[in-house]
Amino acid sequence: MRNLNKPISFKQGKGMKNGFMLAPLTNQQSNEDGTLSDDEYRWLVKRAEGNFGLTITCAANVQEVGKTWPGQLGVFGDQHLEGLTRLAAGIHQHGGHASVQLFHGGRRATRDLINGPLQAPSFDRETGAEAMSLEAVKALRDDFIAAAVRCHRAGFDSVELHAAHGFVICQFLSPQFNHRDDEYGGTAENRARLLHEILAGIRKSCGEDFAIGVRLSPERHGLLFGDMLALTTEIMTTGQVDFVDMSMRDVFKYPDDENFQQKTLCQWYLDLPRGDAKMGVGGKIRTAEDVLRINALAPDFVVLGHAGILHHNFPDLMADSPGFVGRQTPVGPDILREEGLSETFITYLETFPEFVAQS
Ligand SMILES: Cc1cc2nc3c(=O)[nH]c(=O)nc-3n(C[C@H](O)[C@H](O)[C@H](O)COP(=O)(O)O)c2cc1C
Repeated sequence: MRNLNKPISFKQGKGMKNGFMLAPLTNQQSNEDGTLSDDEYRWLVKRAEGNFGLTITCAANVQEVGKTWPGQLGVFGDQHLEGLTRLAAGIHQHGGHASVQLFHGGRRATRDLINGPLQAPSFDRETGAEAMSLEAVKALRDDFIAAAVRCHRAGFDSVELHAAHGFVICQFLSPQFNHRDDEYGGTAENRARLLHEILAGIRKSCGEDFAIGVRLSPERHGLLFGDMLALTTEIMTTGQVDFVDMSMRDVFKYPDDENFQQKTLCQWYLDLPRGDAKMGVGGKIRTAEDVLRINALAPDFVVLGHAGILHHNFPDLMADSPGFVGRQTPVGPDILREEGLSETFITYLETFPEFVAQS
């Protein structure tokens, strides 16, 4: 079990000053063209100030047609560089590791927000998304890589590929949504090809002073539990990533797949060989007690969503008093304002059940 208040190094690039990562959190605060707003800067830099070892942006689009929420951050053009550069510098002022989550919605992008057809690995009856041509898949790969290069230029320490939660890379990994008959579909190896090629391209283009992370889901979204264990092991032990952020929804639950009931989700993943990579776990780690319980299973770091919204300085509070009793949802909007959230973010959180207390 590691001391979460101690620094962590990554194989490449800057490490983390402690074992607390802010989960990527969509907040709808960006400007309409995807450039960073002052609200978004304030919300994130306040988390770095509160001593999160790694502060990451919300899911940020690598292509305009990947847009899934209004007010979503963009990293698809040089018009985004200025805001990104300011944000990286703001996080660095507090000694944090600054990261961007690279994203594309695929079949889950929002038609009304994009200028063009919905695109997915395969034709999707439910949404009407078109199957990407081979050229479109290669362009998507290249745009993920170009976005990483842009983040590197802006001064970020890493990017995290959003390959979880049923968005585009996850759609490629999933036999439920990927029915391609070219080299990007069919076998588990082919379904993972896009992910591997993006990782290799980022390594080659961003060099040694830059870390690479991937966020994965262990199950749901049509994913096969065994495939995901094998893929996670492969990318960690072959040096393709510096960290994996396993997004489990609930770290304490058992897998849905009845063939894998011997251990909890978290235990399955923490038992995998990690090579030189580090592993963080997240999903319903909401209290100091939850952090201590999960830390006993020896992840390299913990990933906090709700807890980071409710306490911008959760790492500091835990360092001062490991058993501190924090806030729980629902909370009033005044607390969220005090914690650096704008009205836009608070309005978005009102769409989540039992998050914001009605006054
Ligand atoms: C408001 C909100 C926005 C989120 N946005 C993202 C996102 O942009 N990217 C992502 O990978 N996960 C996103 N998630 C999932 C969180 O990163 C996290 O995995 C989830 O909330 C579970 O952790 P928690 O119980 O500590 O909150 C979001 C969750 C919430 C509540």
